[in-house]
Amino acid sequence: MRAALVLHGPNLNLLGTREPAVYGRVSLTDVDRLVREAGRRRGVRVECRQSNVEGELINWLQGAAREGFGGVVLNPGAFTHYSIALRDAVSAIAVPVVEVHLSNIHGREEFRRHSVIAAVARGQIAGFGPQSYVLALDALLALGDGRAGRAVNQRRRRGV
Ligand code: DQA
Repeated sequence: MRAALVLHGPNLNLLGTREPAVYGRVSLTDVDRLVREAGRRRGVRVECRQSNVEGELINWLQGAAREGFGGVVLNPGAFTHYSIALRDAVSAIAVPVVEVHLSNIHGREEFRRHSVIAAVARGQIAGFGPQSYVLALDALLALGDGRAGRAVNQRRRRGV
């Protein structure tokens, strides 16, 4: 994988000032710097984008392969819990997507414990703060873009 796309969903632009007890005081700019730097050390170009608009995230997912990205790290924000449109976009594309969350959504309110994205993502990483993004980048690299990764994906689609 030569390039990875990092997508942040709604309200993540407010990171640093938004509910610091839950999300910490690190800004989105700092998160982006961390993951870009991790990419640089791994020889991967990392591009980070944020949107509060569901359709914009969908357009970026649909365009990921065309733009030359070999993987996507996606924090869907609250869309995680109800956006079937975002789920369909993740499911529709061949580029592997790893779902990430700063907080451990499984230890929070009931409505955050279910992700409609998780079943169609390659996997989910939650609860490690900004480091979740770096772990997701490593997960994408571990998948590789060769036959092993595709075989896993095919088995997953067949449900075995
Ligand atoms: C989040 C968790 C979501 O439940 C929430 O709506 C967010 C952030 C996280 O990174 O922990 O916006 O995705």
